[in-house]
Amino acid sequence: MTVLLSRQQIAEAVARLAPEIRQDYTPALGPGSGGPRVKAGAGEELLVLGVLRGAFVFMADLVRALNMPLTVDFVRVSTYGGGTVTNRKPRIVQGPRTSVLGRRVLVVEDIVDTGITSAFLVDYLKRKGAASVKLCALLSKPSRREADVEVNYLGFTIADLFVVGYGLDYAQQYRYLPDICVLETK
Ligand code: IMP
Repeated sequence: MTVLLSRQQIAEAVARLAPEIRQDYTPALGPGSGGPRVKAGAGEELLVLGVLRGAFVFMADLVRALNMPLTVDFVRVSTYGGGTVTNRKPRIVQGPRTSVLGRRVLVVEDIVDTGITSAFLVDYLKRKGAASVKLCALLSKPSRREADVEVNYLGFTIADLFVVGYGLDYAQQYRYLPDICVLETK
């Protein structure tokens, strides 16, 4: 097992992404206003929606770095079939418990690989009436992309490698590793 991204590099990415996201979701008082920020009402807070299970570690670090009013929920997507966009059919198997109607939603993914899961989820949330849907992913493997999906906030672009750790698994193993490692199959 070799380390691809150390815990230090991951922490730096979280520290880089959080202010960017906070900035985008904090309404200013008015154009050019340097004054105090408007506090969002209960239902207007950003909904940070983690995709189970892989995103749980990233999500925990990200929301603490965001350190702003937000609500947290999780969703679980199961993908049946293999291979291509046309024969892979994602479906929601759990959550979100929170209504997304009129909410600004930030989807948090561990990794965007083919993009099929994220593309499906973004579309699903828009159909459910979310005011806006953006995607934050720690990792992206663009060389594997099959579905058209925009990653609004990205930690790292990686090559076509199978990685584990920091929430990511291989057969439910290795999620506890603090670094992101490349799994050697030989
Ligand atoms: P996609 O629908 O192909 O983009 O797949 C997304 C999901 O596949 C991720 O949320 C992960 O659960 C899983 N996945 C893709 N690549 C990896 C990897 O390198 N390591 C662990 N899980 C992965």
